[in-house]
Amino acid sequence: MQTRVDFEQRADQDSRRESESRTDGAQTRRAAREPFTRIAGVGGALPERVVTNQDLAEMVDTSDEWITARTGIKERHIAADGEYTSHLAERAARNALDDAGMSVADIDLIVVATATPDYAFPATAVVVQERLGMTHGAAFDIGAACSGFVFALATADAMIAAGSARRALVIGAETFSRILDWEDRTTCVLFGDGAGAVVLEATMGTDNGASRGIIAHALRSDGSHRDKLYVDGGPSTSKTSGVVRMRGQEVFRFAIQATVDVVEEVLAKAGICAADVDWFVPHQANKRIIDASAKKLGIAPEKVVLTVCEHGNTSAASIPLALATAARDGRIKQGDLVLLEALGGGFTWAAAVVRW
Ligand SMILES: CC(C)(COP(=O)(O)OP(=O)(O)OC[C@H]1O[C@@H](n2cnc3c(N)ncnc32)[C@H](O)[C@@H]1OP(=O)(O)O)[C@@H](O)C(=O)NCCC(=O)NCCS
Repeated sequence: MQTRVDFEQRADQDSRRESESRTDGAQTRRAAREPFTRIAGVGGALPERVVTNQDLAEMVDTSDEWITARTGIKERHIAADGEYTSHLAERAARNALDDAGMSVADIDLIVVATATPDYAFPATAVVVQERLGMTHGAAFDIGAACSGFVFALATADAMIAAGSARRALVIGAETFSRILDWEDRTTCVLFGDGAGAVVLEATMGTDNGASRGIIAHALRSDGSHRDKLYVDGGPSTSKTSGVVRMRGQEVFRFAIQATVDVVEEVLAKAGICAADVDWFVPHQANKRIIDASAKKLGIAPEKVVLTVCEHGNTSAASIPLALATAARDGRIKQGDLVLLEALGGGFTWAAAVVRW
């Protein structure tokens, strides 16, 4: 079992190695020797079944041409009967732990971002904790719809900075297929199921911008927009889970400006500009929103990680799934500056800057 002394020695070594290997880049938000959160591993999980636009055209009055032109989506993965959000979350968590070279014994916090929990309670994070065979530490869910992963990342980072956790699994996991009206062509073509996870680890920050880890985040919400994208039921209102309802054009319009605003806020906090970003990993809702946001921000198309074409909108899972995809295929490399951004029902919107 690792002692506090072991942990601090390892953190010191890591910190020294990193400051020797990189001295350029973003300012860190914290002074030397304060806890700093780095991403130690990432993993994704998708249901086996793929549903193409053509498959959907056989169910509702739509076409591959319409869906592709308006959203960029070509296909999405849909969970099998009996495959729950917690199953996808568990698979993503195990993949992230493997990537980090860690076991569940190293973890003391699990945060799951989801709008499609297995149950009203216990939290899906607790179900995942049980499946991983973990009886120590703490596990809880966060609900911020499609922005949930960035909210969860910021929460876990703050807990690590406060010293209340050392290593966390932060998971975005969804089975949106369960809350879709499969007769409503304006929503059912947009979403998919999946999960992604990162392992966060406390390390020691440096004050020269060299540390790998979470540099800054910015979280926003405004409930006055809640009737533009919502689920029309819930335990307390209808005693059902309800289905997604959306005023698509209003979401579209709001999303682009909100994205730009929150990204500018987080870049300022991090002390960098858009040109410094190596990879932009936005929430994967719609290729047109992503393209327009990147253009307004001045981020080149080749720096944008796009998975919406194959995954659809997997809500809180979309960013960690995109991170897992781009890390696995070698695009995102150690030391890269990665910009995350999301918008979801509420509205909630959020961004983070991470040194990978
Ligand atoms: C949903 C969205 C793709 C619709 O695209 P749009 O260009 O705004 O399309 P509109 O809603 O104006 O609809 C245009 C026409 O297409 C039709 N249409 C809607 N869905 C359709 C579908 N799946 N297939 C074919 N036609 C469809 C509409 O009924 C409308 O027909 P009409 O002109 O005869 O009335 C777009 O508004 C969008 O992406 N919004 C943001 C959604 C989002 O990202 N939500 C999640 C945020 S986390």
